[in-house]
Amino acid sequence: MARPTSFAIAVTWATLMALTTVVEANLDVGVNWGTIASHPINPSIVVNLLKDNGINKVKLFDSDSWIMGSLAGSKIETVVAIPNDQLEKFANDYDLAKDWVKENVTTYIYHGGVDIRYVAVGNEPFLTDFNGSYIKLTFPAMQNIQKALNDAGHGDKIKVTTPLNADVYESPSNQPSDGRFRSDIHDTMKNIVHFLSSNNAPFMVNIYPFLSLYQNPHFPMDFAFLDSSGKSINDKGKTYTNVFDANYDTLVWSLKKIGEGDLKIVVGEVGWPTDANKYANLELAKRFYDGLFKNLASKKGTPMRPDEKLEIYLFSLFDEDMKSVLPGFFERHWGIFRYDGKPKFPMDLAGNGNDKMPVAAKGVQYLEKKWCVIKNSIEDLTSEVSQIDYACSLSDCTTLAFGSSCNDLNARGNFSFAYNMYFQMQDQSVEACDFGGSAEIVTKNASVGTCLFPIQIVSAGQKLTMMNVIPFVSTVFVTILFFVI
Ligand SMILES: *[C@@H]1O[C@H](CO)[C@@H](O)[C@H](O)[C@H]1NC(C)=O
Ligand SMILES: *[C@@H]1O[C@H](CO)[C@@H](O)[C@H](O)[C@H]1NC(C)=O
Ligand SMILES: *[C@@H]1O[C@H](CO)[C@@H](O)[C@H](O)[C@H]1NC(C)=O
Ligand SMILES: *[C@@H]1O[C@H](CO)[C@@H](O)[C@H](O)[C@H]1NC(C)=O
Repeated sequence: MARPTSFAIAVTWATLMALTTVVEANLDVGVNWGTIASHPINPSIVVNLLKDNGINKVKLFDSDSWIMGSLAGSKIETVVAIPNDQLEKFANDYDLAKDWVKENVTTYIYHGGVDIRYVAVGNEPFLTDFNGSYIKLTFPAMQNIQKALNDAGHGDKIKVTTPLNADVYESPSNQPSDGRFRSDIHDTMKNIVHFLSSNNAPFMVNIYPFLSLYQNPHFPMDFAFLDSSGKSINDKGKTYTNVFDANYDTLVWSLKKIGEGDLKIVVGEVGWPTDANKYANLELAKRFYDGLFKNLASKKGTPMRPDEKLEIYLFSLFDEDMKSVLPGFFERHWGIFRYDGKPKFPMDLAGNGNDKMPVAAKGVQYLEKKWCVIKNSIEDLTSEVSQIDYACSLSDCTTLAFGSSCNDLNARGNFSFAYNMYFQMQDQSVEACDFGGSAEIVTKNASVGTCLFPIQIVSAGQKLTMMNVIPFVSTVFVTILFFVI
């Protein structure tokens, strides 16, 4: 063979570089885009944010027309959804299912429209917290929506599924091989799984290693992360080094036991919160995502599915300050981006460990540089405690909680924080910074150390927020958070 000329070497080099670039393309990772925020970001800005970061898949919690319109032409693969409170309607009435498909799917199917891939029917409908309300409704709703999709000619490309919490299966011994579907929903799960299988649709499951740690004080911490640093468990000759794989394979075994061991699985939600709990911080979130992305990049699947190319949706895109805090205060801090579209920590969506800060949202407009704080002249704080309760019940004070970024504030700091959150929530209206005369507006940044006193952004409007907002009754919250004062 002739020796390569320097030109040939240059060409080979260029080709190699080109190949490397291809190899470094992002993993098959989508994100969940929720809108339970007081000041949601303009959807067009969000779509650009996704593109800037090479994220080409998104999962929604409904099918808001403004968001869908912004996704049109973006080529971003989209999961649209039907909220739980709509399941009854579609379970009982095929015509309504047809109307839904017409308005929320067909509208967007045109050249340059929205690349809809799945319809998520319900959201974790079998959570035990729902007391079984949706057990009988979910499957018929799925059937009606799929039939409507088929009748409209979308059925080959757009599949119905339902995102389920990992508590739909269990393993009495904690070994994946003991996995099986929960007994109270076993028959329903069987029907749904066979339906998904016959329709070539995936099983969608939400897996939360963070919750394993949060819920169980004896949980071995390292097992929550995917960097194989802790000890492993053995199950029928398979070795597990992290709870994500173990959980995934518990599902694989549960499927196997009803004869559907090969059904495609999509992880509908996976992520790590960054505030409002001792385990929810930037360092652990980064450790979790680093491990997850490296694991995906290694393409080694899980012990039960060694060749599987995992498909996952991160939870979540943004912090959402109006989510219910019943699961825990961390619930409002799942974003890989903050409320204003700024990234929180470096990551590498290609999984090569070349961490860098994601690109921030461009064009987000902030309110003025104004904060609301307690007046220096107020000395007797005890008489003002009810003001804090009021401010926090109508805003978001979760970062004051134990183990959170603002837990070190002194008593005055607590007041100013609460006042400011309420003031920002009210779009800095002058009347919102009164508190019986104890508060004042300042233009000097009130943030203290690592505790951010945020300035709100100009909201993309009521339209996005009002649909999803669960009115958040904060009595419980206030009691837990402020009994200290
Ligand atoms: C389409 O989806 C939107 C948002 O989820 C919902 O409000 C609306 O009722 C749906 N349309 C129909 C005809 O069901
Ligand atoms: C479930 O039942 C409990 C106790 O009976 C009740 O407090 C709760 O509100 C119910 N939840 C729903 C979603 O119906
Ligand atoms: C400030 O509020 C937090 C949350 O309620 C509490 O843990 C902390 O003790 C308070 N600080 C003071 C000095 O009262
Ligand atoms: C206020 O200060 C904090 C902490 O130094 C900083 O992160 C934040 O960006 C500042 N806010 C504004 C509006 O300048």
